[in-house]
This record gives sequence, C-alpha cells and structure tokens, in this order.
Amino acid sequence: MKTSINLKPTIFVIFGGTGDLNMRKLAPALYNLYADGFMPKKFAIIGTARKKLNDQKFQDTIKEGINSFSRSGKVKDDKWASFAANVYYNPVDVSEPETFGVLKTSIEKHKAEFGADTQVVYYLAVAPNLFPLIAQCLATYDLTGDEESVRIVIEKPFGRDLETAKELNALLTGIFTEKQIYRIDHYLGKETVQNIMAFRFANSFLEPLWNRTYIDHIQISVTEQLGVGDRGGYYDGSGALRDMIQNHLLQLLCLIGMETPVNFDADEIRNKKVDVLKAMRPFSSDDIRMSTVRGQYAKGWVEGKEVPGYRHETGVDPDSNTETFAAIKFFVDNWRWQGIPFYVRTGKRLFQTSSLITIQFKDVPHHIFPSAVTEHWQQNRLIISIQPEMSIRLQVQGKRPGLDMVLNPVDMVFDYKGTYTSAAPEAYETLLLDVMTGDQTQFMRADQVEIAWELLMPVVKSWESKKSLSFPNYTADSWGPEDAEALIARDGFHWFTLPLNKD
Ligand code: BG6
Repeated sequence: MKTSINLKPTIFVIFGGTGDLNMRKLAPALYNLYADGFMPKKFAIIGTARKKLNDQKFQDTIKEGINSFSRSGKVKDDKWASFAANVYYNPVDVSEPETFGVLKTSIEKHKAEFGADTQVVYYLAVAPNLFPLIAQCLATYDLTGDEESVRIVIEKPFGRDLETAKELNALLTGIFTEKQIYRIDHYLGKETVQNIMAFRFANSFLEPLWNRTYIDHIQISVTEQLGVGDRGGYYDGSGALRDMIQNHLLQLLCLIGMETPVNFDADEIRNKKVDVLKAMRPFSSDDIRMSTVRGQYAKGWVEGKEVPGYRHETGVDPDSNTETFAAIKFFVDNWRWQGIPFYVRTGKRLFQTSSLITIQFKDVPHHIFPSAVTEHWQQNRLIISIQPEMSIRLQVQGKRPGLDMVLNPVDMVFDYKGTYTSAAPEAYETLLLDVMTGDQTQFMRADQVEIAWELLMPVVKSWESKKSLSFPNYTADSWGPEDAEALIARDGFHWFTLPLNKD
C-alpha cells in the first residue's frame, strides 16, 4: 500500500512545463495525488520551458490545464492554494546551457530547505530530439546525482527504430544508472492493465487453462475514433506501428503471454516480459506479406460531421505513406504458446474507441447438444476491456430459462463501475507515484525497448521502403481496411468488439 508517509521530500522538474502533456496529464495527475494525500509532505514542482514566465503565470497556466483535463473536475480553492504554493517556474533553453545553472541554484535552494534526503525527479515531457541534449546538460551541471537521490523519466517515443533506441540507451546509461531511468509507457499505469497481473496470478483457476491446450487464439485490439488532430507533424514521422504497437500493444501482449513471476520484484516481472519478446517469432518477408496489414484513413463522416482524410490533416504530407492502422499476427514460440496466434490491431478514425483483449478458448471436444438447441453456439471467451468500459467478462454457454433446452451465450461480468465506488486513478497518477517511490515495475527497461524494436524492424523497413499504392484504404468511421478482416478470417476467426455502450 502506497502512502505519502514514506515519501521523501521531492523536487519534480518538468521539462516541457508549458506543453500539452503537462497541461493534460502531468499537472492534473500531480494535483490529484496531492488532493488525495499522496504527495510527499515537502515537495516542489518546477516547470521549465523556453518561455519566460514567472511563478504566478505558470501556476495560472497549469490551473487552466487541471481545470480542463483533471478527472476530478475543477480545482478546489483551498487545495489549489496550498498546492500552488509549491509550484515554481524556471526558464530553461538547451541552446543556452547556462540556464541549467540557474535551474541548479533553484534545486539547491529547495534541497537546503527540504533536507539531505531530498530526491529530484526530472520529467522529460519534450520532443524526443531534446532527450539527449537535456540529459547532457544535466550531466554538465552535475545534476545527475545517484540512484537514491535522482531519477529521470523519459516519455515515448523511445527512439524511432532499433538503432536510435540503442543510441539513446547508450547515452542515458552513460550518464545515469538503469535504476535511475524510468521509460514511461502510460498503458502500464492503466488500472485495468495492472489488473491483468492480479487476475492472472492471484487466481488459481486460470493457470491450468492459460496455454495452447485450451486457448485457440488471442486478440489485442486498441481502436480509436479520433484522427491525428493537431499531432500530424509528429505522427507523420511515426505511424501506428511505432506509435502504438512497438510499445503499448506489445506490452499488453507480454502481460498476457508472460510466465508466472517468482515474486513482485520489478526486475523479476520485467525479466518475464522480456522472455515473451525473446520468444516472439521473427518476421520473414513472407510473414510480412501474409501476417501484416497496414491502412490509412480516407475522409468520412463521424457523428454527423465530415472529417478529413489523413493526407489532408495539418502537418501531414499530402502524399504520405504513413500508416494510421496496423494489424499483425504474431506467434510466441515457446512451450506455452506454440502455434497460437496473437492478433493485434490498432488504428485511428475507426468506428469505436475501445481497448480490448480477447482470449478465445478452444471448443468443447464433443458437442452433446443437438444443433437445433445451440443456434448461437460460441466458444468460451474471456474479454478484458481496458477502456472505455472497464470490465472482465467470461462468455459461457447457458440454458435459457424455459421448458425447452435452448442454449445461448451469456456473460459473467466483473464491471468496475458496479463493483467499486472509488474512482480509478489516471494512469499518470499511478506512474508518477511509482517514480516518487522508486518502483520501476511498470516502466520499460533498456533491453525491453530494444528487443521490441528488433522484432518490428523488418516490418518497419518493409513498410517504409515499399510505398502503399492502396492508401488511403479505409474510410473514417469504419473498422479499417478489408485486408485486416481477411487476415483473421483466413484462420477462421473474426475481430471481436463489444457492443457500443453510449451512456
Ligand atoms: C499515445 C499515442 O501513446 O497513446 C497516441 O501517441 C494515442 O497516438 C494514445 O492516441 C492512446 O492512449 P489512450 O490512453 O488514449 O488509449
């Protein structure tokens, strides 16, 4: 159980303090942690960016961010006043490294006030090209400390391919120790994602079934209704494979595929995840042709409004070859999963926003019920709904009440809404608290990031080198390109979705 009692005094330095991530996620998360009593008794938040602001202006800016984006709504005046008293601003510009000297003075001042056990967290919420420059400036100004006193949080994307990820790892590990580096993947902080481990490893009935003997395939589907919005400039150099599959979706796959850890130690858990990545079947050029599908959205209508095609979004090359949809069939070549396909898909401007993991079990070995009573026969499925619905469903066959024997599928549902009254924290709240307590379990280790890139590099290279002649190949508000249906239909399955629940 985490409580503020054990937290050391903390100085939280946010690079990119005036940016979108701080406004939407970090500041609301820190404020909510504070409001719920999870911030250290002594803390300082120092925003940094190139803009010249004073503390008051910065406080006003993040207040606006919190009021617009916090899960708990607008700030409460008294809470805000005591929180804001710990919020400062310090202009920093990597092209003027001496500004780090000013930052150092400010950090030293807080340290002197807080005491010798003060820890410093640097959060790099900036464009990836600034990661190395900031890390180097921190080193030059002797701000890197040691494992006990300093941590650095790196946002994604961590590299844009294997080579750049390796370079960044080499640079960071040359300045910090691995224990100081927190590579964030916000999916791992989601409540429902964390529950996958609890569900798998705290319940005895699942383990005997969790293998190739009883499971016939697995689907991981993260679909988004939104387009790229104002992130076209970033996204066009990235695409669905880099933006979602290399990190979020492969992490989900690891949680489903991993062996049982010996204990809850961060490295033990990460070792087990790395084992899954190591066992994943490398892609041959035939596999790329047969087991991967890419897509790009065309214009269409979403909730009565016409939306532009990807190539007409701001910041996007009008002839772009970037995929906004990707579907891939993976295999994990080990004893547990040999021969069992893991179908993964993600995309923007799709029909529904939903993140679902579906585990489909094999059929019963022999049907004793006549086909007339089993019209809607369906193999058992376990559906982990990460968002927006937060639930775990087990789909089973049951007898419909009545004088006749008629079977139909029914859902046994564990729904967060109906089960718990407390609101789930945002992923960033969980992860920022983990950083402050020094828990690396939900963060990516250097080898994890590299091996995920290594696995995907043949697909990245093939898609980059061969321009898709069919783009755009799906309409906004659809389920993506037809080839993605064919990818899974060839094996006798179809993509699973939950009925739309608009409440
Ligand atoms: C981010 C991607 O990491 O995750 C975005 O860069 C994507 O493109 C987002 O929209 C999805 O996160 P969530 O939490 O909204 O599912």
